[in-house]
Amino acid sequence: MADVFDGKICIITGGTSGIGFAVAEELLRRGAVVYAVGIPEEGVRAARDKLAGYKHAVCRLVDVTVYEQVQALVDDAVSRHGRLDYMFNNAGIGGTVPFEMVTLEYWKKIVDLNLWGVIYGVHAAFPVMVRQGSGHIVNTSSIAGLLAPPYQALYCATKFAVTGMTEALRYEHAYRGIAFSTICPGNVATPIFGGLEPPKDSIPPEEAARIILDGVAKKEGLIIFPEHYRQMYLEMKADQAKMDAFMAAMAEERRKAYETGGKYY
Ligand SMILES: NC(=O)c1ccc[n+]([C@@H]2O[C@H](COP(=O)([O-])OP(=O)(O)OC[C@H]3O[C@@H](n4cnc5c(N)ncnc54)[C@H](O)[C@@H]3O)[C@@H](O)[C@H]2O)c1
Repeated sequence: MADVFDGKICIITGGTSGIGFAVAEELLRRGAVVYAVGIPEEGVRAARDKLAGYKHAVCRLVDVTVYEQVQALVDDAVSRHGRLDYMFNNAGIGGTVPFEMVTLEYWKKIVDLNLWGVIYGVHAAFPVMVRQGSGHIVNTSSIAGLLAPPYQALYCATKFAVTGMTEALRYEHAYRGIAFSTICPGNVATPIFGGLEPPKDSIPPEEAARIILDGVAKKEGLIIFPEHYRQMYLEMKADQAKMDAFMAAMAEERRKAYETGGKYY
């Protein structure tokens, strides 16, 4: 039986590194046509080199904070292939920082990328999918788009927004054959941790990609992983006192790490 992604036309933003790159490669392995886009130019070039063995890989420089670039990307995919089956809005940056250190410039940067970048992707892809009467929009949120860890106010502001938007659209447009999924990863070992070593419980991006695509193939709404994060989410959602105790302990730990110049995530 053919793979569900075989021959499908897919766009993945932030597809030149980390989770996005791993999803792009897994899709290519499974027979899809993949536009893996991102910034900067060197990252795009490196991704193009790594994917050179796949006939249907297209790596491009696309800044998702510029709507015209996102629209042009979707237009190009549709004019070449006549359709767009999957739009993965995955590009994003982290933001774990004491609130008093956050500048308005950083607020703007993270909202422009993590939220407007996703809105632009949805806005450009949705009309194509409505015309087709099919398609699947997959937006990357985070476990921090479901639970609100201290010192992550900026990141949570963007990721809760992505989760809420995607869930609302999922219910609104199921009737016309358009699916929406929200990806909610815990820790995955990618460049998102900057200079820091990824947390010990991180999973490799390739494993994340397989979990994501399994969930997408089943048209799951919320794809929460790794499993211990999914369990944690379910437990905390069911027990507010447990959540409060957990977050209070994390706040204390992170505050101490800041005060002593130690590392934290
Ligand atoms: N790694 C984790 O532990 C983790 C956990 C939860 C959520 N996430 C989310 O997963 C997504 C992917 O992150 P990652 O961990 O693979 O990190 P990453 O840094 O490897 O990937 C981020 C990608 O975003 C792209 N990007 C950045 N600015 C861009 C812009 N203006 N236009 C287009 N692309 C841009 C980069 O090119 C890069 O490919 C992000 O949305 C992130 O918030 C990651």
